[in-house]
Amino acid sequence: MAYAAFRSIGAYVPQKILTNEDLSQIVDTSDEWITKRTGIKERHIAAKDEFTSDLGAKAAQKALERSGVCVSDIDMVITATISPDYFCMPSTAAIISTKLGIKNVTAFDISAACTGFIYILSIAKAFIESGMKKNILIIGAEKLSAITDYTDRGTCILFGDGAGAAVISATYNKDEAIIDVHTGADGEYADLLMTPNGGTGSAHDSLEVEAGTSFMQMKGNETFKVAVRTLTKDVKEILADNDIKSEDIKHFIPHQANYRIIKAVGDALKMRDEQVIITVDKYGNTSGASIPMAINDLYESGKLEAGEVMLLDAFGGGLTWGSALVPFSPSK
Ligand SMILES: CC(C)(COP(=O)(O)OP(=O)(O)OC[C@H]1O[C@@H](n2cnc3c(N)ncnc32)[C@H](O)[C@@H]1OP(=O)(O)O)[C@@H](O)C(=O)NCCC(=O)NCCS
Repeated sequence: MAYAAFRSIGAYVPQKILTNEDLSQIVDTSDEWITKRTGIKERHIAAKDEFTSDLGAKAAQKALERSGVCVSDIDMVITATISPDYFCMPSTAAIISTKLGIKNVTAFDISAACTGFIYILSIAKAFIESGMKKNILIIGAEKLSAITDYTDRGTCILFGDGAGAAVISATYNKDEAIIDVHTGADGEYADLLMTPNGGTGSAHDSLEVEAGTSFMQMKGNETFKVAVRTLTKDVKEILADNDIKSEDIKHFIPHQANYRIIKAVGDALKMRDEQVIITVDKYGNTSGASIPMAINDLYESGKLEAGEVMLLDAFGGGLTWGSALVPFSPSK
């Protein structure tokens, strides 16, 4: 039987940095408030002519180079994004494939908000284990600045732009295999986080856009509480299912939404500080890109070694959630 191995990681952030100080010139907020309530100090913002597919292609290029897999051997490209180049079609994954010179490939996007990377990891694992595909490029890419309301201090302080990507390949060595991936969703909480406009579910008779409604809207306080509860429960379940103790996890890489959420979940799971990866201070919340960007930071700092198990955990609009136990298995 073929197993799915997490071979490589790459990430890209746009050059421009938006600091808390910069935001305090735009809305009624302060560096002190944002730092205390979220842990965020700055986030990166893409240029006007820099699209989600550009960010995704740059991250994917790095992941490909590090994987040792030839472009011609990639047989599937999946992008997780809530800020695609085009909302209906074509998919951002198809555009990224072309930018990388990947031809004759299966390419599509999925929508699972901040849990997107864990969803595409589970899809890649399933396609490889079924024998249908051998080398899959998965990409979390977001230009959230394009769907952020910079008059709403409750949301605009949180989000940033960036992308992260990984190559998942078939292996017959079980020690290299992704151990488990859990995913879930509950539409009961759909209104906690949404972009109300544009789809057939909006209050309009047509797909006409009403000013402001294509921006993200969030019930921050309720989202916070559901996030802590769901993330903690989800991790406990995946650890119990696989008979692994939280103290034995080398790297806990949660979705980077808010330092206080990460701290509350880490404490509930009795994680030591050195186990928990934090990048929210540098990048803010980059939704589907946040976990692969954090894995990339860990990799580039030289602290991610072959065979070490990463515990991933995410939560986002939908409501969606997911967790994964993933050994880092670069090609030898
Ligand atoms: C958004 C969030 C940072 C707000 O923090 P909070 O501690 O819940 O703050 P509240 O919304 O209760 O607001 C507290 C006060 O701060 C004010 N406030 C809100 N945003 C502010 C800002 N950017 N600057 C200054 N004050 C702000 C509120 O108006 C409120 O004032 P009041 O007490 O006079 O009414 C927090 O709720 C959060 O991070 N939620 C989860 C968001 C998230 O992770 N979403 C993505 C999930 S993937």
